[in-house]
Amino acid sequence: MAKSIPGETKAQWRFGADTKIETNQRRYIRIGVALGSSNGGPAAHLRAIIEAAMSAQKSILSAFAWDHRYRVSGVEDVLTPALVVYPEFIASNIGRTLALLGGDADRWRVHSKTAKLGHTLRMLVERGVRNFKCATTLELLVACQRGAADVLLAYPSIGANARRARKIADQFPEVRISVLAENDEQVRQWRGSRVGIFLDINPGMNRTGIEQTHGGKVLTLARAVNDAGLEFRGLHYYDGQYGGLDERERTVAAHRGYDSLLKLSAEIERSGVPVREVITAGSPTLPCSLTYEAFRSRVFVHRVSPGTIVYCDATILAQLPSEYGYRPAVLVLTRVVSRPRSGIVTCDAGHKAVSADAGVPTCVVMGHSELTPLSPSEEHLPMALQEGAAGPQVGEALYLLPRHVCPTVNNFDCALLVRDGQIESVEKVSARGHEAPLLRSLDSATSHERRETAGTH
Ligand SMILES: Cc1ncc(COP(=O)(O)O)c(C=O)c1O
Repeated sequence: MAKSIPGETKAQWRFGADTKIETNQRRYIRIGVALGSSNGGPAAHLRAIIEAAMSAQKSILSAFAWDHRYRVSGVEDVLTPALVVYPEFIASNIGRTLALLGGDADRWRVHSKTAKLGHTLRMLVERGVRNFKCATTLELLVACQRGAADVLLAYPSIGANARRARKIADQFPEVRISVLAENDEQVRQWRGSRVGIFLDINPGMNRTGIEQTHGGKVLTLARAVNDAGLEFRGLHYYDGQYGGLDERERTVAAHRGYDSLLKLSAEIERSGVPVREVITAGSPTLPCSLTYEAFRSRVFVHRVSPGTIVYCDATILAQLPSEYGYRPAVLVLTRVVSRPRSGIVTCDAGHKAVSADAGVPTCVVMGHSELTPLSPSEEHLPMALQEGAAGPQVGEALYLLPRHVCPTVNNFDCALLVRDGQIESVEKVSARGHEAPLLRSLDSATSHERRETAGTH
């Protein structure tokens, strides 16, 4: 059974075996289960999960006008595809965010999975942003090396990964480090360490965390943290599922979640365990967290945790109010390598350069609304050329605004830093990928690395 869904967020469908759901972005979700259409029970539960997934389908900008400030001089010497970072625009995006936070850099716990470059982390630190969030032990290490004061490893760490995080915490006693927990075992494994614990609450994203309605479990775990002799830092609540909703619906949904979150936090306080910090929001729900008045008047510190806004991409620029004034600060420079038939132009930015995880089109070609990126292969990106348009010639350079900048940055070993059109340096994408997989080898690298990075922050 295949059913076409007219809108991304008001989807209605019946479930059957191998149900195929078509969104208006022509992406398919296959559900290989047979379910009835009863109200309640597993079908309703799954429907709720799929509705949340559908609302996460994100729209993107359809075009982005050319702006001469993005031109790179000396492009003939640049190997493509190349990641280009523009520090002036990074500085402007950081400044815009600080202005939205009333100038209080301490309210931002920036996610470093977007920034990734030591250079960018340093720019954040220089502007007073010293609270970070990260998802990998490599991001944790790099944030500690680049001057972070407080880093939350916002990922469920288990086994060898937890032991590695503990080592990094020991290596940087001057940095306050915390982790997430959602069950007893995850609390117990940190006994005897110096890390603080945030309880991860599932805001309906259904990825990690304790269900928001399970207040009893949250209370028991908060007490267990204290009983284990660990510091209970507060609640982590990443409501990243609302990116596909329009701004008004997004705000209503996010505020409803915050109401429950505050009730939960008050219950914990009443039980005698102080909640010091509550963390909400990525980039799309930043406006929702900013307009939630109750966050300002609480006893706890409220921090927001957007990361994408440091660089911006074609998705977040479509989701945030244009008056916020964010600009793309990272592009992919590519060249036309072929025109295999009329109506098709191919450049060298396949999905090993511009990430395809958010769907097709993977990017917007700046200043070329006549080009529509098609499905990429590893190193090729064919694009449809509007009928009657001349289009770029083979060898011509193009500038791509990624649909999802975070994994795109992660695709590159290094980036060109371009200021005023001039290539100023080649910067390492320091937190790219993951650390080497064997704990033993990392232990021996640690002291060497520590010496190498001393004095870099
Ligand atoms: C746990 C967590 N916090 C914060 C963020 C940052 O959100 P955004 O990329 O929308 O800025 C993410 C993004 O994936 C995340 O997973």
